[in-house]
Order: sequence, then C-alpha cells, then structure tokens
Amino acid sequence: MPEHMSICVIGSGYVGLVAAACFADMGHKVVCVDNDEVRVKQLCEGGVPIFEEHLPELLAKHAGTNVVFTSRLADAVEQSEAVFIAVGTPQGDGGAADLSYVEAVVAEIARAIKSYKVIVEKSTVPVYTNDWIRRVLHRHGVDQDLFDVVSNPEFLREGTAVTDFLHPDRIVVGARNEQSAEILRRVYQPLTGGAYYAQPGAVPGTCGMGRPAKLLVTSTQSAEIIKHASNAFLAMKISFINAVANLAEAVDADIEDIAAGIGLDSRIGPKFLRAGLGYGGSCFPKDVAAFHWVAQERGVNLQLLEEVRKINDTQREVFFNKVRSALWTLRGKRLAALGLAFKGDTDDIRESPAIAIVKQLLQAGAIVTAYDPAAMERAKETLPPAANLKYAEDLYEAAKDADAALILTDWKEFAQIDLARLNRALRFPIVIDGRNLFKPREMQSHGFTYVSVGRQASYQAQEGKPRESPV
Ligand code: NAD
Ligand code: UDX
Repeated sequence: MPEHMSICVIGSGYVGLVAAACFADMGHKVVCVDNDEVRVKQLCEGGVPIFEEHLPELLAKHAGTNVVFTSRLADAVEQSEAVFIAVGTPQGDGGAADLSYVEAVVAEIARAIKSYKVIVEKSTVPVYTNDWIRRVLHRHGVDQDLFDVVSNPEFLREGTAVTDFLHPDRIVVGARNEQSAEILRRVYQPLTGGAYYAQPGAVPGTCGMGRPAKLLVTSTQSAEIIKHASNAFLAMKISFINAVANLAEAVDADIEDIAAGIGLDSRIGPKFLRAGLGYGGSCFPKDVAAFHWVAQERGVNLQLLEEVRKINDTQREVFFNKVRSALWTLRGKRLAALGLAFKGDTDDIRESPAIAIVKQLLQAGAIVTAYDPAAMERAKETLPPAANLKYAEDLYEAAKDADAALILTDWKEFAQIDLARLNRALRFPIVIDGRNLFKPREMQSHGFTYVSVGRQASYQAQEGKPRESPV
C-alpha cells in the first residue's frame, strides 16, 4: 500500500490548485493555502475558480476530506511534512523573474517552522532560487536541521493540467541530499510505483501500472534549468515554425504539409509545430525572458532567445496586416473575434495573442463582437469597456452581419463550426484564421475567402451575397 503523506500547497492558482487536487486523488492529505480570502471562501464553498478539465470532479470528490482550503499558512505548514510553494513568478524589470511572492511566502514559512519540513519549490524560478530560499530561511533564524529545500518544477499545461500532472512525461526533483529526495520519492510513489493507475476512478492518461511515471533526481541548479530550458525550447519550436510559415507563404508552399514533413522525423517530432499567432500565456513569454536574463547575468550568450521573442511579437503584426489586407480599411468594419483565451481549453487570458489583436483592432476603429467559450468573464475584467466592443453568447451571434470572422484561439468548438451557418451569418463570407483550423480547399468550397497562416490565401471571385429581394 502506498504511504499517505501530509502535504501543504501554498498558492491555489493553475498549478497550486491542480497539484492539491491531484495529490488528494493520489491519497495524500492536503492543505491548500492562499492569501486571497475570496478565493479561499469560494473553494471552501465548493466553487472551482478556474476552467480545467477533471478539476471540478476531483474537488467534488476530495474537498473537505483529502484536501482542505485555508488562508492560515502557519497552521498548514505545522501539520505538513512537505510544503510546496506554487505562487506566481511574473516577469519583473528587465525580463528577470519577480520573486517577491516566493520570498514573502518563505518568510512566512520561516516563522511557522517548528519541526523538520521539506520545502518544495514548484513555481518556475531562475537557477539559484533554491539557494536563495535556504538563505532567507537562515536569515530568519531557522535552524539548518529543520528544513531542506527541494526544486520540483511543474510541467503541466493549462487545459490538460490534471492529466499532465497525474500522467507526467517526467517528474524532476532537484535535491541537495538523499533525505529530502526520498521524501519527494514518497510523495510521487503512487505515480512512480503505478498504484494510482490501478485505483478505481483514476484519471485516465498515458501512464499505467506497466508504464508508471518516471522520476529524475538532479542537483537543484539542474532542476531549475530543466524547467526554463524546456519552456524556452518549446517556445523556440513555435517561433521556428512561425518563421518558416512566413517563408512558406512567400514561396507558395503550405506550412501544414511542411510541419507534417518535419514532424515525421522522430528526432524532431510533430508536437509544438503549429504555426499561428505565436505563443502566449502566463509561462512562455515570461520564462523565455527570465532564462535569457539569467544567461546574460552569467555572461553567457543566449541571444537566440531574443530572436525567439522577436519572431513571436512579429507574428501578431503579420496577422494584423493580413486582416488589413483582406478588409482594406478597418475603421467602422464589423469583425467577429472568435477566441480570447491564449489557447483553447482554458479561461486564461494572460499574455493572450487574441486579446492583443482585439486591442489593436479596437484602436484601429473596428467594431468588434467577441466570443470565447470560457474566457469572456476574464476578458471583460481586462479589456476596457468600449463603445466598439461587444460580447456575444455564441459564435454565430458574434458572426452575425460581420464583415469578417477572425479565428484567434484554437478552440475545438471553432474547428467544428457549421460552415454553411457561419457563411449565412456573416455579411461577407471572409474568414481570417490565425490558428489554421481549416483546410483552404474546404473553406473555398463553402464559398469563403479564407486567409490563414503559412498558406496561400484563397479569395472568392465574388465575395458579395445575393441581395434579398425587397418584399
Ligand atoms: P496563479 O497566479 O494562477 O496562482 C498563484 C496563486 O498564489 C494565487 O491564487 C495567489 O493568490 C497565491 N498567492 C500569492 N501570494 C501568496 C501568499 N503569500 N500566500 C498564499 N498564496 C499566495 O499562478 P500559476 O499559473 O498557478 O503559476 C504559479 C507558478 O507555477 C508560476 O511560477 C508559474 O510560472 C508556474 N507554472 C505555471 C504553469 C501554468 O500553466 N499556469 C505551469 C507550470 C508552472
Ligand atoms: C506551457 C508548457 O507547455 C508547460 O509545459 C509549462 O508547464 C507551462 O507553459 P501552457 O502555457 O499551458 O504550457 O500552454 P501550451 O500548450 O504550451 O501553449 C503555449 C502557447 O503556445 C499557447 O499560446 C499556444 O497557442 C501556443 N502554441 C502551442 C502554438 O502557437 N503552437 C504550438 O504548436 C503549440
């Protein structure tokens, strides 16, 4: 039987809440702490503050039993063997990560420690943060024998966070000694031993009894760099394919065929080769910047990452120019913006390319009706109210009488659009697709002028619709 441990998770955001719910599903006793009282109240009352597949079910199953929510950090630390820090590490000045939330939490932990704890750095942080956490604990007078600090970066993606957490490609543990590494091995034992996957009601995924999760123990610096380097590499893959997409378009080639052809090389692989509006979200932009900053600090040339960022920024401009060239002038044009989230299957709009494009369209005087299956509430909090911005209840309402529909987020719902109905709803049958959700030939056969990324635009000879005869 796997051993059940007492765990504290500090931060109940996309990482902390998912980790807390998943640890609970693995059989551990979890206290999840947040200093946002409103969020804690919502969680205590059974609410789910983020849109994430499987999360509502896991919370319904374990809240109040295997996982409880509180704002009292000291009590939570006291009753736990392992304390996971999962607070935000946003971009700070000059690209460096802002570690002030981590430091504040560490200072609070220092005041609460009375017996040995392993403090686990789960937030994404630059190399040597583990050392800084130890230093802060010492400065607050905590005895060296009362703690170890372990780095355990998180690789989950939003939208598939629960599955990624429970079926990870790898679990990385950066530890300074065997004692603390062993505690982390015990935490993840239900996944690495495979017992979790045999459990009735386990969340299904790629791992199983015969194919359990792998755990890699490294030094603390290596673990910290593994996280930054993984995100930077994936961002680089996206910028690479976007740069190639622009070339493909210039020479009448097709980026979807090219990505398929490249991706079939097993050394490259097909994932993260989707051309589009560029990467957004709360991780890639800030982590690419932070990793570059770390390298610069150490006098190491990672200028490559500056190019990755520049290509990414350019990609939004490229798309905006496509809108302009398809529609000529933008002032007064009615546009349906389909998607606001930074990618499909999430309500997160942090660093969303879709939001950036909507802002640009509004500035250019376009009249935008936006629709997103999950992110509209968050968008309303972020986008300033404007006379030329409305929100629709569904995508066909957004498209009604619009001069064109713009696809800004890769929601499955958009890929399954009823094209005939979309065509009827639009004033002109023009689709400008920043996510390559459709095949140009299919769009052409449905009578659309179709502009996408890295492929030739297909224009209808006659874009107008027959006028309705007067009654
Ligand atoms: P988030 O902003 O969604 O959540 C952070 C939470 O921490 C918030 O609820 C906030 O109220 C809470 N918090 C802040 N200060 C606190 C304090 N002093 N005490 C208690 N709670 C406090 O952030 P997130 O997206 O979950 O990211 C957390 C970390 O994980 C970041 O370092 C991020 O880079 C990393 N990460 C994120 C993802 C992702 O997909 N979002 C994936 C992997 C790693
Ligand atoms: C990312 C990492 O994948 C994850 O391992 C890490 O823990 C957190 O950061 P996330 O930000 O949730 O996860 O989303 P991801 O699926 O990686 O997409 C990031 C951005 O890249 C999105 O804007 C997405 O639309 C874009 N993207 C992704 C592409 O443009 N093309 C692709 O092929 C893949």
